[in-house]
Amino acid sequence: MAHGRFDNPVVAALHGIYDLFRKQDLVDRLSENDRLDGKSIVITGANSGLGYALTVEMARRGGRVIMACRRDLPEVLQKAKRESGSESIEMRYLDLGKVESLYEFTSNLKSEGKQIYVLVLNAAVALPKARKTEHGLEEMFLVNYLSNFMLANLMTAEKVMSLECAEAPRMLFISSDSHQGSSAVDYSEFGNYVDYGVSKGIGYYSYYKLVTNTMMVELSRRINKNGHKMGVNVICPGPVNTEIAKEAPPFLHKILKGIFWVFFKSPKVAALPVVYMATSKDYDGRSEEYQHMFNEKKMDPKCYESDAGVKLWEESLKLWRQLGFDVPKMDY
Ligand SMILES: NC(=O)c1ccc[n+]([C@@H]2O[C@H](COP(=O)([O-])OP(=O)(O)OC[C@H]3O[C@@H](n4cnc5c(N)ncnc54)[C@H](OP(=O)(O)O)[C@@H]3O)[C@@H](O)[C@H]2O)c1
Repeated sequence: MAHGRFDNPVVAALHGIYDLFRKQDLVDRLSENDRLDGKSIVITGANSGLGYALTVEMARRGGRVIMACRRDLPEVLQKAKRESGSESIEMRYLDLGKVESLYEFTSNLKSEGKQIYVLVLNAAVALPKARKTEHGLEEMFLVNYLSNFMLANLMTAEKVMSLECAEAPRMLFISSDSHQGSSAVDYSEFGNYVDYGVSKGIGYYSYYKLVTNTMMVELSRRINKNGHKMGVNVICPGPVNTEIAKEAPPFLHKILKGIFWVFFKSPKVAALPVVYMATSKDYDGRSEEYQHMFNEKKMDPKCYESDAGVKLWEESLKLWRQLGFDVPKMDY
């Protein structure tokens, strides 16, 4: 059975506090010259927390930001425009829990001729108990892993992120360093509805980060095999005071919110290393990299195993077809 590094959300949160005392080697490398003028950016789950802070900071640096959200929140859009001083922000519907919306989102971008320079796969849930989606999948598996796999495939196969552009696009997955030490992918339960409660839930959260990291490394190998230079990278922002624990039972939510509020970083600060990875020339032509805040690190070694990556890719495609959806061909 799959397992993550932690089985207690309070211990996981307290562990995050250690991260705040780490020296951040690259912190001075992000400068005001790292800009995104005229470039289009998609950020999933951009209506709150880190995704919202990324929207404001990337728009402030000249980017045209598409906030890809499951809820229509005009007041949040207006706030982002005000805070960034930019009108180049829009909000579009994308629900990673509804597979059809991934197709609709991508095909709209394609028919409008949009070219996306940065895709930030940011949206995630941390659920205290398993929930079934309309396709019978468990929600955290679908939102935190499988839909990221599908969206990354659709955006590249449909050439909404094109390798023929003068500047190679970048794809960033917002992970968590808690993936380190999670189990290898367990195919006996892959795609099955698996029940869990709070302690197993926090384990699955970390485990799906490891699964998605493994997918990102494999995506990079496939996409860049003919000498292309798309940056497919992974980052953990460190502990951030956000709404990630909003579905925790009320007593636990209170404890976690207290820890988050006192110790964790603001989303605005946590967004900066992500902006660095998305904009800096330091990452030109670099792929399969991992940052933990402003430190370059290695992911769990399992994420780089090529056999594991190939198997994960094939099993994910199989599952996608079993759900009855067309899989576009990636011909890079
Ligand atoms: N907070 C931390 O300490 C921490 C640490 C390491 C990594 N991270 C990662 O940082 C990323 C951002 O999380 P956060 O901390 O900023 O938490 P957050 O404030 O809860 O943001 C999560 C975002 O994902 C969206 N989302 C959830 N399910 C979705 C779906 N089915 N379709 C589309 N969007 C969906 C949420 O939308 P709704 O508002 O509609 O729910 C929200 O906008 C996540 O990947 C998280 O794992 C966070």
